[in-house]
Amino acid sequence: MDKVRILAIETSCDETSAAVVADGRQVLSNIIHSQIDIHRKYGGVVPEIASRSHIVKVDDVVATTLGEAGLTLDDISAVAVTFGPGLVGALLVGLNFGKALAYARNLPLIGVHHIAGHIASGYLENPDWQPPFVALIVSGGHTQLVHVRDYNSFEILGKSLDDAAGEAYDKVARTLGLPYPGGVEIDRLAQNGNPEAISFPRAWLETGSLDFSFSGLKSAVLNYLNSAKQAGREVDFADVAASFQQAVVEVLVKKAMTACERTGATRLAVVGGVACNSHLRATLTAECEKSSIALNIPKPIFCTDNAAMIAAAGYYHYCAGRFADINLNAVPSLPLAQQFT
Ligand code: KG4
Ligand code: ZN
Repeated sequence: MDKVRILAIETSCDETSAAVVADGRQVLSNIIHSQIDIHRKYGGVVPEIASRSHIVKVDDVVATTLGEAGLTLDDISAVAVTFGPGLVGALLVGLNFGKALAYARNLPLIGVHHIAGHIASGYLENPDWQPPFVALIVSGGHTQLVHVRDYNSFEILGKSLDDAAGEAYDKVARTLGLPYPGGVEIDRLAQNGNPEAISFPRAWLETGSLDFSFSGLKSAVLNYLNSAKQAGREVDFADVAASFQQAVVEVLVKKAMTACERTGATRLAVVGGVACNSHLRATLTAECEKSSIALNIPKPIFCTDNAAMIAAAGYYHYCAGRFADINLNAVPSLPLAQQFT
């Protein structure tokens, strides 16, 4: 049987990305144009600038991805596009481009939830990975634990009540005077610090809760730095980075392991930008080995925002016959649908 080739477009935040993936797993091309250099001088993503940059780039990124795959639109089975959650202006660019392509070429259109995309990144170039599993989604915008019961069946076990893990990393990095995005900078700085040097709070929330909260930790770091400044005490920034990181990772790992225990899952996927974190990777690897849980952390290029993951998620919509129509609109705070067939 002929392969199903999904052309996907992702523009929910500050990456303009397009990809072609065959049968949900085989990445034929995955082009990502990052806007980080543009936003760095503002210390974060500026929504209006993000939208404008997507408009300038999207055409070229889609053409390049088709070219790299050695394909034309004649070879494409369907167009998948992220329609939420994300920045509304940014989402609209990719969505309208995808809708126009699908309409002009009479191709099926598929609307993909950004988090469902991150969850599907575990399938990319990994023929053996399949539900059921627990997914820990840790990115700049989201922190969630999801029980992936089947390809199109999700149960949200827990989520952040305030800042996402990546957001906490970025905000703490900013207070330490590190450039945006700060996650990778803290990761690097922490290598030379003592994770036990400062006892920052761990927000476990009520007993058994799989929800997260990182804003208290962020404030604790800020207070620590302010009090040291007022007292004229010298601060070891590497110790602050390592102790902060230890507090984040400890909570993420403990709750992810509890989620596996509670659902009986023997597989754990860790996805989203913060899954690139070296301490998180190392701690989870050790914990999962102890508990005989198969751990899947996709390679970094599939962890941060990319269109290949949207194509992978789109493939399972395609298999379920779940298509969108031309009225599909961007939904900036779209909830993750728990189930569809
Ligand atoms: O998934 P992603 O690319 O975008 C969103 O959907 O938000 O995640 C970006 C986030 C940023 O907050 C960035 O600081 C964080 O991932 N990040 C990291 C690392 N690499 C990226 N955080 C901690 N350690 C890293 N090595
Ligand atoms: Zn993301």
